[in-house]
Amino acid sequence: MESAHALSAPSPWIVRWAPLVAPGAEVLDLACGAGRHARHLAARGCTVVAIDRDAEAIAALATVAGVFTRRADLEGEPWPFAPASFDAVVVANYLHRPLFAPILDALRPGGVLLYETFMVGNERFGRPSNPDFLLRPGELLEVVRGRLEVVAFEQGETATPRAAAVQRICALNGPARRATLG
Ligand SMILES: C[S@@+](CC[C@H](N)C(=O)[O-])C[C@H]1O[C@@H](n2cnc3c(N)ncnc32)[C@H](O)[C@@H]1O
Repeated sequence: MESAHALSAPSPWIVRWAPLVAPGAEVLDLACGAGRHARHLAARGCTVVAIDRDAEAIAALATVAGVFTRRADLEGEPWPFAPASFDAVVVANYLHRPLFAPILDALRPGGVLLYETFMVGNERFGRPSNPDFLLRPGELLEVVRGRLEVVAFEQGETATPRAAAVQRICALNGPARRATLG
């Protein structure tokens, strides 16, 4: 039987923009689950703090070189990081709107935000269907407006890895740098 935390491939969006995160960078993988993005960034030479409330999900991550796991309830406990603690923050398939502000604050100057999750319209395909867990059209652009410089943004329906409505952003905490995107 497949484990509830079976490791799936990293999101192509995160893989696409990961080259903006330099080797040696300190990265936060928020609500990391089994850590597909923590593993991807650690394999690129980053140091990753991978945080989730699910101890079982993060257990296997603890032995991955470059990944430091932390168990916390991000919605029921105080935000655990000081401002400007990370060179990049990755959030995938997780939404708790009160965390938008601390997520942005957690970025160091020049830091990279990679965020991808479900948006309104996903209810036609399945879960999540609760509006609390679905971004509104353009919401990630609103969240970063005046704070971060948008490198790339997409929203709409996708067929892979399954039919879904998603929204994605890559944004920088500072002027856009010339980057090698691979
Ligand atoms: C759909 S999974 C996404 C996992 C990972 N980001 C990925 O893309 O593979 C959502 C994750 O959010 C975590 N999560 C949900 N509520 C949380 C909370 N209050 N505090 C910490 N983690 C939470 C779950 O345990 C789960 O691992």
